[in-house]
Amino acid sequence: MVGTQWGDEGKGKVTDYLSAQADVVVRYQGGNNAGHTVVVGDREYRMRLVPSGVFHGKTCVIGNGVVLDPAVLAQELDYLAERGVSTERVYVSGAAHIILPYHIRLDELDEQRRGGGRLGTARRGIGPAYADKAARVGIRVGEYVNPVLFARRLRENLEEKNRLLGAVYGAEGFDFHAMLAEYGGYARRLAPMVRDTSLLINQAIDRGEKVLFEGAQGTLLDLDHGTYPYVTSSHPVAGGACIGAGVGPTRIRRVLGVVKAYTTRVGDGPMPTELLGAEGDWIRERGHEYGTVTGRPRRCGWLDLVVVKYAARVSGITDLAVTRLDTLAGLPRVRICTAYRVGKEVLTTFPADLACLGAVEPVYEELPGWELDREPRALADLPAAARRYLEHIEEGVGLPLTLVSLGRERGQTIGLADLFGKEPGR
Ligand code: IMO
Ligand code: MG
Repeated sequence: MVGTQWGDEGKGKVTDYLSAQADVVVRYQGGNNAGHTVVVGDREYRMRLVPSGVFHGKTCVIGNGVVLDPAVLAQELDYLAERGVSTERVYVSGAAHIILPYHIRLDELDEQRRGGGRLGTARRGIGPAYADKAARVGIRVGEYVNPVLFARRLRENLEEKNRLLGAVYGAEGFDFHAMLAEYGGYARRLAPMVRDTSLLINQAIDRGEKVLFEGAQGTLLDLDHGTYPYVTSSHPVAGGACIGAGVGPTRIRRVLGVVKAYTTRVGDGPMPTELLGAEGDWIRERGHEYGTVTGRPRRCGWLDLVVVKYAARVSGITDLAVTRLDTLAGLPRVRICTAYRVGKEVLTTFPADLACLGAVEPVYEELPGWELDREPRALADLPAAARRYLEHIEEGVGLPLTLVSLGRERGQTIGLADLFGKEPGR
């Protein structure tokens, strides 16, 4: 399951729905920059690291592609324990990298230094932790839970980071002993959760179990395929699941693209269909479009099918899930962007040259709006205009719709197919 836009597509809700049928649920990239809201009965849970499958008592995996903040994981385990949710079957890859306080500090300082050119990161240390991974100086969970190795690696890293913080940023460094004591505590908690998760997942597939790979963020935030440099530092696209979980591409049968019925973006960077006036405000208030992690107001705009088609291409999406159809209810008319105009040219595919993305003008189709007064249980219960909107998405992207979400609660979902079935579509 992947996000087809700039994140916050309602992936938490969809994963929760699919987790009921899955045996194993896997996070494969990102970290606690993600914020997934899951509503179970009258309770609302805000999750950042642990896969939403935890609410169904399923095996949950934090894969090697994730960057894990041990302090946040400890908090999340407490949060779940206080609410009576068992985390006994949550496993963490020994090859995942950890986020330490200097990553968070550097994320903040980098953003300050960029000034007006800032990326609008979640300031959770994600970029600096992935940078260390690529520079081959990062600390992996396997080393972290070994006290001797961790002390050695932390000392090496702090020596260099403190020098960097002082010389380049004029900032204060961190104390080795204090960090070792605090993070050593979290490590003891994490140690029993560490597994060879690639083996665990592949064995589950061998046994015929259903495995759900839960993407965080979205396609347009992918480090390679997103709107660089306004992206996150990992690979939310479907291919990221192979690398971030240790499974081969031939083992993934279907790719579900989650499409929010409109577009949002939190953070900076181009967004062609952004609505800066009253309509954007209306969507933000109706949809409670404020960040789960940072509380920032999200930028809101009409659905952009150029973006969704692009996501379908780079992830090989086989099925679509449309979420938040309820948010748009009550508008007299709605719009869908089907192409971009650049000067005299009309683009129907997402531009490879991102410099032009900031200058494109969306080409819209206008459709009648709808009201949702009763609880629809099937597509046939939806007003004709809402069905037409969904058909437009299916036709525009050229992929079958297999799930529709109409609200935050578990029951407000219309499943149109068995998503773990062999054949895509419905
Ligand atoms: P979920 O999983 C929306 C955005 C940030 C920023 C950029 C880089 O809830 O969909 P980072 O902290 O990752 O270095 O920030 O990416 N971003 C998200 N936007 N939803 C998310 O996650 C996001 N995670 C990161 O706002 O623009
Ligand atoms: Mg979110």
